[in-house]
Amino acid sequence: MDFENGNLNFEKSISDSVKFYPSDSHNSYFYRKIKLAMNNTEFREWAHRLADRMADYYENIEKYPVKSIVKPGDILAQLPSSPPSESEDMTQIMNDFESIIMPGITHWQSPNFFAYFPANGSYPSILAEMLTASLGTQGMVWDTSPAAAELEEMVMNWLKSMTGLPANWSGVIQDTASTSTLVAILSARERITAYEINENGFKGTEKLRVYCSTETHSSVEKAVKIAGIGRKNLVKIATDAQFRMDTNLLSEAIANDIAAGYIPLCVVAALGTTGCTAVDPLAAIAEVCEKYGTWLHVDAAYAGTALLLPEYRWMIDGIEKADSFVFNPHKWMFTNFDISAYFIKDKEALLRTFEILPEYLKTGNRGLVNDYRDWGIQLGRRFRALKLWFVIRSFGVNQLQAKIREHIRIARWLEQQVIAHPDFELLAPVPLSLVCFRYKPASFTGHENLNQINEELLRELNHTGKIFLTHTKLNGQYALRMSIAGTLTTQQHVEKAWELIRETAVGCI
Ligand SMILES: Cc1ncc(COP(=O)(O)O)c(C=O)c1O
Repeated sequence: MDFENGNLNFEKSISDSVKFYPSDSHNSYFYRKIKLAMNNTEFREWAHRLADRMADYYENIEKYPVKSIVKPGDILAQLPSSPPSESEDMTQIMNDFESIIMPGITHWQSPNFFAYFPANGSYPSILAEMLTASLGTQGMVWDTSPAAAELEEMVMNWLKSMTGLPANWSGVIQDTASTSTLVAILSARERITAYEINENGFKGTEKLRVYCSTETHSSVEKAVKIAGIGRKNLVKIATDAQFRMDTNLLSEAIANDIAAGYIPLCVVAALGTTGCTAVDPLAAIAEVCEKYGTWLHVDAAYAGTALLLPEYRWMIDGIEKADSFVFNPHKWMFTNFDISAYFIKDKEALLRTFEILPEYLKTGNRGLVNDYRDWGIQLGRRFRALKLWFVIRSFGVNQLQAKIREHIRIARWLEQQVIAHPDFELLAPVPLSLVCFRYKPASFTGHENLNQINEELLRELNHTGKIFLTHTKLNGQYALRMSIAGTLTTQQHVEKAWELIRETAVGCI
């Protein structure tokens, strides 16, 4: 990829990639044989080659355009519409991977990826994923791989003590925070209806309500729809000037709903909202939930990792009154997507909601061990605990803390740059490592369309291929979101990005 002078030369990149997988001189006989099936010797050879390819990828990751610049349909047009009837050799498959697939990849692991929240990986995590794929373990019950079940139990216990969550809660790995929140709402629904809906279905007379702030992630709305509560029964509570849920309004809404015959089923508090990482006041929300007997679920999908730092434990003041909590090690804890850590106070509510016992899954160890198929929606489960174990052991808690602190420190640095610059405006507080800001030149008269200008600025920035940012709207104002949490991101990357933002902004007016 030719990045000098900002030129993206895909043709050159494709020809380089093709050269990378030459048809070896010895291969006419050798590779014809592979066409039947890959044998162990061939697997070994390719595994070595791919290990080199993976290491090369990370060595050169900054040379790729961070956000793929292909157009809709570009990749599809290069793929045959029907599968091959005969075996194809791995050289050809890998050449196509380089020439067709790689240009359509957005490089989430790039240190210049500042979009959304990260989906971090790290070398130890990748190595564990290689082992996981090799073992091909499916951990639906303890018997199908005792080590998978018991390692999961232990790493969840480790996470509890690393984050300061209550020691008597139980933890289980889910795929994503969306699933964890759905699991929480389903458990709350069953507990409050004495497990009636699981048994007999909805009567049609249930009047259940769920509450979250206007800034809460869309996964709550999805969960409410799937759980049969109905989207119109999701009550969105307004936020204060810092985008945190207004607890007085929550209390009022619940009291009014009870008076109107509704049952307040669940409140979802967000620690680190998606838009701007606002932290809802958990202790005050927990008191309201305690008063009305409402399930309190805490969504800390991104921000939960900050609890590794004792100085951030204030975010979970009141957690002992909550019922469930989720955070994603796949976001900020350097563990490859997907892995979501879900914790629950009342394990029985979870098990009674999801338990199922067909004859073919009966084992002699029931009751003695954790059969995780009863702890969530899916039956079959990937062996996700292994990568988390590799990450925690390979980094060590101190190193994990150091990396997270460094991200927060860099975000503070950027916050100060934005505040000090006359032509930029900070649009939200920076409690963690996300900075929300917009371009607003001091020379503007007030009549300019700032939303349009900032939208254009974002488009231009992402088109350079040098960085990737996304946006949100805060109080109707278009905000650039710069999330500083990549495994490989350093101060230098953020300084260069800030320079590019300033230069590009000037061209947008
Ligand atoms: C606060 C919050 N909750 C939930 C989610 C959904 O996460 P997942 O992709 O793991 O379902 C996100 C995603 O960014 C989020 O920011």
